[in-house]
Amino acid sequence: MRSALALALLTIIAAAGAVAYANAAEPVVALKEAPGRAVTQGLCAVCHSLEYIPANAPAMDRGAWLKTVQKMRERYGAPIDDAQAREIVDYLSATYAGKR
Ligand code: HEC
Repeated sequence: MRSALALALLTIIAAAGAVAYANAAEPVVALKEAPGRAVTQGLCAVCHSLEYIPANAPAMDRGAWLKTVQKMRERYGAPIDDAQAREIVDYLSATYAGKR
């Protein structure tokens, strides 16, 4: 009985270790250096990878980023105030807007 419990505990510890390792191995997406980068990195990585930004860039312009940031705030509840949203949209439309 005790050894079964010990085995179960070991399995849990091993699984937790594997998860921690997977997270540590995930590549960190570094956004392009420009004004507004810090606030964008800080607030847009809360729920998903920053990779969403370069991945969507080719199809984006200012209006599309404005809509996306609005959607993150209104539909998904992103904790971003108006001033921060303006800074983020300025940054994204200056550096990650492929649609001209
Ligand atoms: C409160 C959580 C949250 C925050 C904070 C957040 N997002 Fe999202 N985002 C989501 C969810 C949920 C989705 C849709 C599901 C998915 O694909 O993960 C999404 C999807 C996206 C997509 C994919 C295209 C789309 O419109 O669905 C982009 C691009 C994106 N987010 C950009 C951003 C940017 C830029 C920021 C910072 C302003 C941001 N997100 C902050 C939750 C969030």
